[in-house]
Amino acid sequence: MENSRFWDHLGAEHDRALEDHGPELIKRRQALRYFTWSWTWSALPKSEQFRFLLAHSTPWDLFSAATERSDTGDAAWIGVPWRRSDRWLYCFATRLLWRYADRATRTHPSLRLAEPLLGSPLPVADRGRLISQDLANTALELAIIDRGRVGAPTHVLEVGAGYGRTAFAILSLFPDCKYTVVDIEPSLTIARWYLTQLFSKDRVTFLSPAQIDDIPRNSMDLAVSISSLSEMTPETRDQYLLLFDRAVAGGLVYLKQWKRWHNPVDDLVVEFDHYSIPKSWVPLVRERAPVQTHFVQALWRVP
Ligand SMILES: C[S@@+](CC[C@H](N)C(=O)[O-])C[C@H]1O[C@@H](n2cnc3c(N)ncnc32)[C@H](O)[C@@H]1O
Repeated sequence: MENSRFWDHLGAEHDRALEDHGPELIKRRQALRYFTWSWTWSALPKSEQFRFLLAHSTPWDLFSAATERSDTGDAAWIGVPWRRSDRWLYCFATRLLWRYADRATRTHPSLRLAEPLLGSPLPVADRGRLISQDLANTALELAIIDRGRVGAPTHVLEVGAGYGRTAFAILSLFPDCKYTVVDIEPSLTIARWYLTQLFSKDRVTFLSPAQIDDIPRNSMDLAVSISSLSEMTPETRDQYLLLFDRAVAGGLVYLKQWKRWHNPVDDLVVEFDHYSIPKSWVPLVRERAPVQTHFVQALWRVP
């Protein structure tokens, strides 16, 4: 399978960050190109996420999120060379996201998990507790999967797992569940470093794209891919959709991807509606994602 040039470039950037900072700072470096969004005053006027959060926050949320003390000093933000005003904005926006996710999911169990200190999460507290964008977004995503889920998943397949934020929540919530990550380097190494320190090695398998034929037919009951398929070549994306069709029979597929995105490096325009979704998949959910409103999320049952 061929990597997109987009990910060849980004992978090289992530390799350099690994050499410079080691894996200890992944939540402050690579994660900002996975699914942790940065918030800066200069980008705010164009931020659809910020507009969404403002429109979905109560006056009390806005007041309390703004007035809770935020530590914006350099000692707490090692590895994050942002201005102090942007660090404050990041804390404020993350609190709004957390409160929105809490309300929208009626406190999904993933919001009760403690954000692991491994990987150096950004120092955002809400009512004195460490919170994160990644757990809040994961709660919103797992709440959609819950709509189609019957019982606990026994084996989950994820393509393009980043450092492993979704795997962390699923493996924590379902102690008997196993997880297979398919990714390219250096994400695969990063996810292995992260997840094998948090969970026993026999629960997590890490595969390169060249190894996907090893995944047995009907071996998974859930496949997940978030903000990943749009960044691949069309041929690679099609192969993963066929993999899901083969591996997840009888189970669920959850995708959250750009509705329309121009990949500037490969000069490709990718539209969610043009994905080659197998005709036999039964649609359960398809909606504009909350918060990241340029994304679509969808859930299918695979016959
Ligand atoms: C934007 S990140 C999203 C990470 C994660 N899903 C999340 O939401 O935090 C895209 C992920 O897709 C992976 N990826 C890119 N090209 C891939 C390919 N050809 N096969 C598998 N994974 C790929 C990247 O390494 C990265 O882990």
